[in-house]
Amino acid sequence: MAYILGIESSCDETAAAVVQDGRMVRSNVITSQIDIHKQYGGVVPEIASRKHLEAVNAVIAQAVDEAGITFADIHAVGVTYAPGLVGALLVGVSAAKALAYALGVPLIPVHHIRGHICANYIAHPELEPPFLCLVASGGHSHIVLVESYTGYRILGRTRDDAAGEAFDKVARVLGLGYPGGPAISKAALDGDENAVKFKKVSFGEGNRDFSFSGIKTGVINHLHNLEQKGIAYRKEDIAASFQKSVVETLVDHLLEAAEEHHVNKIALAGGVASNKRLREELESRAEGREIYYPAPVLCTDNAAMIASCAYYEWGAGNIADLSLNAIPNLEIDTLT
Ligand code: KG4
Ligand code: ZN
Repeated sequence: MAYILGIESSCDETAAAVVQDGRMVRSNVITSQIDIHKQYGGVVPEIASRKHLEAVNAVIAQAVDEAGITFADIHAVGVTYAPGLVGALLVGVSAAKALAYALGVPLIPVHHIRGHICANYIAHPELEPPFLCLVASGGHSHIVLVESYTGYRILGRTRDDAAGEAFDKVARVLGLGYPGGPAISKAALDGDENAVKFKKVSFGEGNRDFSFSGIKTGVINHLHNLEQKGIAYRKEDIAASFQKSVVETLVDHLLEAAEEHHVNKIALAGGVASNKRLREELESRAEGREIYYPAPVLCTDNAAMIASCAYYEWGAGNIADLSLNAIPNLEIDTLT
């Protein structure tokens, strides 16, 4: 039996968790800085680093305490080292290094997006690779073929904005607040999703890449047009129509990839995976394929997913020494 302490600080959540054998969550502590960044309409990197620094020790202590163990019971420390805001990542990496050194246990470097995918192992103890995963968050939109616990192949990616980023930007234009994803899906509940047809972007037959900046620009142009002509509109209708366009694009590409690679298990991961409309669209078009997604608390940034991923990376011999550094940009299929 192995207890892994996971630490996550890549963006605006300071999180620590203890996970047993990669699948069983013993504690999952998350402190969010959202209320601080809200007033700026997005994450301010320098503020994020400072807030991580203030929170990290207390969050780690709470995670160990809530797990009902002591520091001496921890077998390994897993930490997000890439990708993310470099100053924010450094806080978690430094804390993890200090702990691993002090406890004399292995230090496991975890790729944040791999972590998002591994949230599905916690939510679905029976899930095993291979499966297809859509990772859609504020910083990434990837279709990934999960070939093994540590083998990942990117089949498609966004060429501009991430899906969550598009939600955030459109919410800002509509004055719906930050983060935009939950705000848009809430507004969309009262909207007509067929009110406006925002064009879906495709790069042609067999290409699974995404572009969301076009949909975002489509919304902005549409609003300018209406405002110039003095035509009234309902924000709810725009939110619902935008959401429909993004969701259908994600699901179109995902199902095409599943078909091409003969995969019958599809998972969702990342903040956007908590979008109800996305889950419903995928389930309604799954044609017998098994669909997996984590509970919302495991979709957005957390450290339980990092500890789960660390368990499998550790098993594959991926152990870092104390020279481990934060890397702001790193592909999911590359290890340093
Ligand atoms: O995974 P995450 O917590 O952080 C990153 O690694 O980026 O994802 C946050 C992103 C934000 O862009 C947020 O607007 C989006 O996920 N999001 C959603 C929903 N909940 C969060 N997007 C659409 N629908 C949601 N319900
Ligand atoms: Zn994330």
